Amino acid sequence: MKRIIALLTAVVLILALAGCAASNAGSQTATQAEQTTKAKENASEAPKATNETTTGNSGKALVAYFSATGTTKGVAEQIAIATGADTYEIIAAQPYTSDDLNYNDSNSRSTKEQNDKTVRPAIGSETIDLAGYDTIYIGFPIWWGEEPRIMDTFVESGDFSGKTVIPFCTSGGSSINTAAENLKINAGGGDWKDGRRFSADVSRAEIEEWLNTL
Ligand SMILES: Cc1cc2nc3c(=O)[nH]c(=O)nc-3n(C[C@H](O)[C@H](O)[C@H](O)COP(=O)(O)O)c2cc1C
Repeated sequence: MKRIIALLTAVVLILALAGCAASNAGSQTATQAEQTTKAKENASEAPKATNETTTGNSGKALVAYFSATGTTKGVAEQIAIATGADTYEIIAAQPYTSDDLNYNDSNSRSTKEQNDKTVRPAIGSETIDLAGYDTIYIGFPIWWGEEPRIMDTFVESGDFSGKTVIPFCTSGGSSINTAAENLKINAGGGDWKDGRRFSADVSRAEIEEWLNTL
């Protein structure tokens, strides 16, 4: 009799352990399934987030500018504040030193660059994707009556088709007209509006007044 009881106890014990193992396996499978679902959800969210980033700028404005001594940068920042636009600074891969900018020296880097319309100084700042922008303000100083050649590097490297492009500059007095015309030709696309020149002491009110006319 003792033997039978021992045998029955052993059978009950084995059955209980087997049931437990099966239920553990079941809950593990459920956990794995949950994790897989979460991973899939994350995976399906990931491209959505990327898309949102890519197309999220739709309708936005960008102020892209080059400024060797900070004057144009000041105007660019005012425009960005007033319009809510993003900014992109075009920085030369080889920055301009004050010797480079010496317009009294016929051998200075800037004089040589401006004397050769084919020169395209490399841009060092990270490339910007213009795809999400509808309106692009393009700012620069006037050098020898024209756009610094690095501005030609910039307009030739982007696709301006379908975009409204608004050039502006700062200068000691020279007009923006020749520079704006050169840039429009070299960009090869876009709806280019009349450019606007500002002096170094331009006020915020003057910039905002101009923006209101656009
Ligand atoms: C190399 C060089 C050439 C320049 N040529 C002219 C010019 O032809 N006409 C003019 O009005 N100002 C000229 N300037 C003055 C700049 O256009 C002016 O100082 C501008 O506001 C500088 O802008 P930034 O500080 O953004 O570089 C020249 C300046 C430099 C450095």
